[in-house]
Amino acid sequence: MRTGNRVLSDGVCNAYLVDVWTLSAYRRQGIASEMIRSLLKQLSGQHVYLFTDDVPELYTKLGFTQQPVGMGQIVGTWLVNQT
Ligand SMILES: CC(C)(COP(=O)(O)OP(=O)(O)OC[C@H]1O[C@@H](n2cnc3c(N)ncnc32)[C@H](O)[C@@H]1OP(=O)(O)O)[C@@H](O)C(=O)NCCC(=O)NCCS
Repeated sequence: MRTGNRVLSDGVCNAYLVDVWTLSAYRRQGIASEMIRSLLKQLSGQHVYLFTDDVPELYTKLGFTQQPVGMGQIVGTWLVNQT
């Protein structure tokens, strides 16, 4: 696999886009953009949430806007489940 991302959706009104990545050697060829476009086509009528401070240019080009209200927490130690 040369790229990856995930959307969690309730299938009605809320979806969460997480962990967008492209293998280093294949970056800047439009792969992440195309993957996200493909996911968004399946989410008509839903609010898609994305929490990131990485590469905002990628997401603004795809129609995402800043929505600076949010809350979160890390439970215990970050990445404690990493193998
Ligand atoms: C961020 C990432 C997913 C982009 O993947 P990609 O397949 O290279 O993205 P695209 O080719 O579709 O890029 C589309 C546009 O996003 C912007 N962009 C992508 N990577 C960028 C970077 N490193 N710096 C600035 N802008 C960037 C550019 O505007 C680009 O268009 P252009 O190439 O015509 O200038 C990839 O660099 C990656 O896996 N990074 C490490 C993981 C990460 O930070 N993920 C984000 C977590 S939410």
